[in-house]
Amino acid sequence: MDVFVIEGGRRLEGNIRVNGSKNAALPLMAAALLTDDKVTFRDIPDLADIRNMVRLLAELGCLRLNEAEGFETGVHTFRNVEQSQSHATYDIVRTMRASICVLGPLLAKRGQARIAQPGGCSIGDRPVDLHLRGLRALGAHITLEQGDIVAKAPAGGLRGATIFLGGRFGSTVLGTANVLSAAVLAKGTTVIESAACEPEIVDLAEMLIAMGAKITGHGSPRIRVEGVKELSGVNHRVIADRIEAGTFIAAAAITNGDLTIENCPIDAMLAVRDRFDAAGVNIRTVNGEDELMRATVRVTADRVLKPVELTTQPHPGFPTDLQAQFMAMLCLADGNSVITERIFPERFLHVAELSRMGANLFRQGATVVISGVRKLVGAPVMASDLRASACLVLAGLAAEGTTVVHRVYHLDRGYDNMEGRLANVGARITRTSDANVPAAATEV
Ligand code: EPZ
Repeated sequence: MDVFVIEGGRRLEGNIRVNGSKNAALPLMAAALLTDDKVTFRDIPDLADIRNMVRLLAELGCLRLNEAEGFETGVHTFRNVEQSQSHATYDIVRTMRASICVLGPLLAKRGQARIAQPGGCSIGDRPVDLHLRGLRALGAHITLEQGDIVAKAPAGGLRGATIFLGGRFGSTVLGTANVLSAAVLAKGTTVIESAACEPEIVDLAEMLIAMGAKITGHGSPRIRVEGVKELSGVNHRVIADRIEAGTFIAAAAITNGDLTIENCPIDAMLAVRDRFDAAGVNIRTVNGEDELMRATVRVTADRVLKPVELTTQPHPGFPTDLQAQFMAMLCLADGNSVITERIFPERFLHVAELSRMGANLFRQGATVVISGVRKLVGAPVMASDLRASACLVLAGLAAEGTTVVHRVYHLDRGYDNMEGRLANVGARITRTSDANVPAAATEV
């Protein structure tokens, strides 16, 4: 398996570009199932999860027509050439739980769907009860059979409904995407109360509207949909990835660097910006004010970072997907920081790994106190999930000596060529096989 070998202690300087958003792209691609016309996407990142979604859509008869164009172009054109197959099998779903976002579109367009129920993962249980609540409210008959979700629309099709979609952790992003994608073709009016407000949901709604859907309120907790008979094709550019952008800002901060970050959706990151400001990270918008979803920002940081308190919440609160990266940065702040995880209370597998590097962390339930230390020390560490991997890379960039991050396949799910882009701005980071890593460094 691949590892990253990082020689820490080098300042990052130069330009880095943010890719299109993985978490926007996956429900957007699933929504290609909703029309008989061609759908073209631009700025789709070339990631393992994206390749899995292309494979899943092909299994469902929704083919990528521009095969001659490589994934590195970010351009994908899909068309439903065969609509008899509506079964998303376990072997794909188990590799990517976001496969669940084909459920709503399949139900709305083909009247049925069979999807392996996604299992849990290292950041916690990943129930789908809210997805099923919303789709049942639209009239779907849903049963669980041998680990599969088996869903069927009524003979006359789905019907609009007023749905409360909130759960004990607040709103659900992919649950909102599923219910929204189903409601656009349901008969009548749907109101989704306690809808997710994430920018990725706004991007999905905007694309559906461009396809002919009638949606208002997206980006707010109450979304209203007037069902339509059919949707037409579209050519859509995916929004920039706010989580990747936040990861690079943290990389500049933790190495006391000076990074210019392009295609940064800074206007979708106000809670993140607030916490960076509090920590002494200076983010200055360089290009025109009219481009705040694709801004160029210049990032520098105070020599010594300040401790902060942060709590993860649904958007517009601080995103759980940047919790681990912030924790890495705050390990070197001058004082005690406090991080509370309100979305995935178990999302702390990176705590033990950071401690191996000399971080001083104290976890009590869903809260971690980070007592800043003068330095981190390189060590072999184990990635456990996508954002924990990014956290360990950031820590390695700042640590004294060599850090070997194992199982970087987790990172490849959400970051394209992370090592190449960081090396381009001064990091000493290389990808190699764990077979090439000295024996001493593999005792993890
Ligand atoms: C999306 O996952 C993202 N993934 C996650 O990013 C992100 O962490 C999460 O939203 C929260 O922002 C994609 O967009 C592909 P949720 P999703 O449903 O939609 C509970 C990454 O690193 N819940 O918003 O699956 C759930 O357990 C990934 O890029 C229910 O209880 O997350 C959690 O506590 C990781 N019942 C909370 O709600 C449900 O039916 C939020 O989950 C659904 C969710």
